[in-house]
Amino acid sequence: MSKFLKKSTLTVGGIAAMLVVAFVQETAADQSAPYNLGREALPEEVAAWDIDVRPDGKGLPVGSGDVFTGEEVWIEKCASCHGDFAEGSGRWPVLAGGIGTLASENPVKTIGSYWPYLSTVYDYVNRAMPFGNAQSLTDDEVYALTAYLLYSNDIVDDEFTLSNDNFLEVEMPNTDNFYPDDRVEVEMPLFSVEACMSDCKTDVAITMRAAVVDVTPETDGDAEVEEAAADVEATEEPAAVAEVAVVEVAALDMELVAAGEGAFRQCKSCHQVGDKARNRTGPMLNNIVGNPAGSVEGFRYSGPMEEAAAGGLVWTEEELGAFLTDPRGYMQGTKMTFRGVRKPEDIAGLIEYLKSFEAD
Ligand code: HEC
Ligand code: HEC
Repeated sequence: MSKFLKKSTLTVGGIAAMLVVAFVQETAADQSAPYNLGREALPEEVAAWDIDVRPDGKGLPVGSGDVFTGEEVWIEKCASCHGDFAEGSGRWPVLAGGIGTLASENPVKTIGSYWPYLSTVYDYVNRAMPFGNAQSLTDDEVYALTAYLLYSNDIVDDEFTLSNDNFLEVEMPNTDNFYPDDRVEVEMPLFSVEACMSDCKTDVAITMRAAVVDVTPETDGDAEVEEAAADVEATEEPAAVAEVAVVEVAALDMELVAAGEGAFRQCKSCHQVGDKARNRTGPMLNNIVGNPAGSVEGFRYSGPMEEAAAGGLVWTEEELGAFLTDPRGYMQGTKMTFRGVRKPEDIAGLIEYLKSFEAD
């Protein structure tokens, strides 16, 4: 570089001007003409970049690895972030489970529930993991880890050995739900009609808002994400609804209120109460006990909640108890993605606590 500078009489501006001229000429001239820059890449340089593995198996190196070995490598190099069983630790990605959740409000996309091709697992792990030390794994380790990830997703049993020979035999559960991109035939004609330029319709009807889809968490999105992940793992065993305390008392039981305040911590990521309470992911909850459901001003409820409100649902202590015990069992399709409160005494406390935020 310094040699170039010494010998060259060109100024930076001069170089730039030359490049512009060269560029103009180049675009006008034969595109295949050589640039006369650099040198041809060596085969080993190309090979170092050429590590992609394709769905049809092209690019797979010769090698193999079994679930057991994969588990050992996993524990050493992956589990700190992705959890012992690929369930994801903290906020690191979840790599297993989630099967059957894709059409739900909280789809959990994992290798088992979502990925159509096993080659992507091999390629991704080989290319990018472990995070921060990419491309440090041997081919056999990548096979073994891929086998372990299949095992974690219940796709193979613990005796399984994956190799370049049987790679294409593995069937990914969600493969059939992908289909070739047909937008050119299906969508293009719809959007290629001539635009209306005169006498067009005057009214614009908003049919859907992004908030309903809930793709943009207002705040504390993380808590929701974790909640969603926890939900999927939580086994479906709603605690008994029956025991909820339904004692009508005029004065507040302050001990219960205090207990409820503790239990309300699990609601705080989405709900506010008190003087400055406003709607967040969930509606603010002042004045909720004994009042009509789905009626907090300015909050966009789910369809089912709106229907329940139109049907006259009132948050009596019984109804509230049942809802909080198992929100989505109580109201299918509710936006409240929360697994529910297990302990009846917590429910009683929560209700008492909420009652302490009633307007007088
Ligand atoms: C230091 C934390 C960390 C470690 C250790 C780690 N990963 Fe990851 N992994 C991540 C992060 C972060 C992502 C998401 C990266 C992104 O989306 O850009 C990820 C993504 C992945 C994905 C894709 C997930 C998806 O659904 O898109 C796979 C598969 C994966 N890791 C496998 C592994 C394997 C196998 C190992 C061990 C060799 C490993 N990871 C080690 C942090 C880690
Ligand atoms: C992950 C966010 C989230 C968490 C955590 C959460 N909620 Fe909700 N909650 C919501 C959303 C969103 C709605 C609106 C539901 C709908 O429209 O279907 C809601 C609705 C409600 C309603 C009905 C409000 C109304 O105006 O009809 C009550 C009561 C309620 N939540 C109480 C609680 C309590 C108590 C807790 C804690 C034990 C809790 N929620 C935890 C998000 C959450």
